This record gives sequence, C-alpha cells and structure tokens, in this order.
Amino acid sequence: MLKLNVIIVGFGFIGRELVKAFHDKVDEIRRIDKDFKVVGASDSKGYLYNDWGLDLKRLSSIKRLSDYSADYREGGSTEELIESGNVDLMVEATPTNIKDGEPGLTFIRKALSKGIHVVTSNKGPLVVAFKELTSLAEKKDCHLLYEGTVAGAIPIFSLVKERLRGDKILRISGILNGTTNYILSRMYFEGTSFELALKEAQERGITERDPSYDVDGIDAACKVVILANALMNRDVKFEDVERTGIRRVTQEAVSLAKKSNFAIKLIGTIDSQIDVAPKHVPINQPLCVHGTLNAIHIEADLAREITLIGYGAGKETVSAVLNDVLTIMRRKAESM
Ligand SMILES: NC(=O)c1ccc[n+]([C@@H]2O[C@H](COP(=O)([O-])OP(=O)(O)OC[C@H]3O[C@@H](n4cnc5c(N)ncnc54)[C@H](OP(=O)(O)O)[C@@H]3O)[C@@H](O)[C@H]2O)c1
Repeated sequence: MLKLNVIIVGFGFIGRELVKAFHDKVDEIRRIDKDFKVVGASDSKGYLYNDWGLDLKRLSSIKRLSDYSADYREGGSTEELIESGNVDLMVEATPTNIKDGEPGLTFIRKALSKGIHVVTSNKGPLVVAFKELTSLAEKKDCHLLYEGTVAGAIPIFSLVKERLRGDKILRISGILNGTTNYILSRMYFEGTSFELALKEAQERGITERDPSYDVDGIDAACKVVILANALMNRDVKFEDVERTGIRRVTQEAVSLAKKSNFAIKLIGTIDSQIDVAPKHVPINQPLCVHGTLNAIHIEADLAREITLIGYGAGKETVSAVLNDVLTIMRRKAESM
C-alpha cells in the first residue's frame, strides 16, 4: 500500500501556498495515497515533526511555523528533520542562492542520499550541481522533480520528458523572467522609461530584493542553465551563458522597434549559442507575450514547433510543485 510521508522545507511563500493546496485538495490526493500526510516542516529557525501527521488546516492558517504549537523545535535544523526517520518525500522551497546552492543543496543531497524523493522549486542547487544531483537521484532510485524552478506554472519539463520522449529538442527560446517582461511591456504600451517601469515593478512587489537579479538577466540565465541540462542533455554552467540585461534598453529603441511591428523582449536561447539578451521579437509571434507572462518556444525534430505560455511566478507556481508531488505518488503507486 502506498504511504508517502512528506516534509516541507522552507515555510515562506511557496511552502505556505503548498500547504493550502494540500489542504484544499486533500481528497484528490488521498485518492492516490490513502495515507497521505505531511509529517514535518521547517524554516530557518526550527522545525515541526509529528509521526501522525501535521494538521493541514491549522498549518494553512499560520504565517510562521512557531505559531503551530509548542511542538515547534526552535533551534532544530532541517538536517535533523530529514534524519528524523519516517520521511519519504521532501519538498524543498528555501531561498535561491546561485553562488553555492545553499542551504538547499545540502538538504537535497542529504535527502537523496537517504533514499528520500525530492521536489524543489529552488533553482540554486540545480544551477550549481545539476549533474551531481540527477546522478545521485538515479543511483538511489529516487525521483528528483523541479517543474517549479523554470517558468512557474508552465509544465515544460513534464511536457518534454513525458510527451516528447521520441523527439530531439533542437532549440529552446523563451521569455523566462516575468519582471523584465513587465518592465518591457510598460515601456512598449505606455511609453514609460526603463527607470520608471522598474520603479513601478518594485512598487508592485514583483522584483527580487536585489533587482539586478531580474534586470541583468541573472534569473533568466539560471533558467537557461536548467533547461539546457535537463532537456538538451548539455553540461552547461552559469558562466557559460552569455548575458546582457535590459538596463540599456531605451524608450527610443522600444518605440523604433514598435514602428516596425517588433517588441524588445529579454530572450533566453539555447542552440549552438547559449545566451540571455534583449532581442527584437515580431509582435505576431506566439512568443511575444506581455505583462508578467512567460513563454517558451521549443523546436523539435518531430513535433517541429511548440509554444507554451503561462505565469512564471507567484501562487501559480504551486501548480507545478503540487503536480510534481502527485507525479511521484502516481509513479510509486504504479510500481507497486
Ligand atoms: N515565490 C515565487 O513566486 C517563486 C516562484 C518560483 C520559484 N520560487 C523559488 O522557490 C523557493 C522558495 O521561494 P519563496 O518565495 O517561498 O521564498 P521565501 O518566501 O523567501 O521563503 C523561503 C523559506 O525558506 C526558509 N529557509 C531559509 N533558510 C532555511 C534553512 N536553512 N532551513 C530551512 N528553511 C530555511 C525561510 O525561513 P524563515 O521563514 O525562517 O526565513 C522561509 O520560510 C526559492 O528558491 C524561489 O526562488 C519562488
């Protein structure tokens, strides 16, 4: 009988939204795993663990784990939680750190080494150690799924890995960062300057704390690295991505492009060259989406061309994380 005990590492925006989705959809989830339960959750200051399962209603109503109950082990580490014994699947949602992948990298290594399946929305560990982690997962016969790391709710990895198994992916290009797309869209539609559009994006709370992560193309480059390694069997490092951000895109350049029916978009491309740069995109191409939307265009030998459009961040990302959890449940159920 399938029985996967889940822990959630990182109780920030994604961790909390996932708990709400677990709570709202518990009946559907229990159709796959009758005994589904979340046995633990951690943040940077401590963790909760209960062998019988945490109360999802209560967990979905609190902002900090320490508000759950006196069971919160202040000062306890995520490593202790992973070691706690009865864990089968870890959802990892700690902050992205592309310098050394920590703390997520250590957590994922530890979980996989113990034979625990992993779902992550955190780009850092995959950018730093994609091959190492996927090899470790394979060696330990574990699933490592990461749909939420690239383009939020767009199911790019599931689509290519599950539905384009016989295709060779020849080229991928895409708008992979919603914040820069918002800025460029404001410049295109409202005639706003880059500086003003950035300020608006910051006021709307859609930029990273350090806006250079978005506007200098760092976030998009991380996603290019993961796409190239996961879907095109490359061995790409962050440093291999040629990167130009959007700081130097002027209102004049945007207006001039518009007159010729083009929009300037920050595009990540993987073919013979791997880069992130502002490019002219014909306004009638499916890739040319606006606002905070993301879009990914795949060119494959058999399917030829597919474009996916959707929300790249925010609550919608939980769709990807939840689906990864359910995919692992389904695969385990089918293998029994
Ligand atoms: N938000 C989105 O729309 C979105 C979309 C796609 C992908 N992602 C990625 O998903 C991940 C989580 O994003 P988020 O928005 O949920 O971030 P967040 O709100 O900043 O939450 C991060 C959580 O990780 C916890 N944490 C930090 N260090 C930890 C440690 N050593 N052990 C255990 N927990 C630790 C934090 O604890 P404290 O609460 O104690 O600080 C916090 O609860 C990030 O990698 C992000 O890039 C986010």
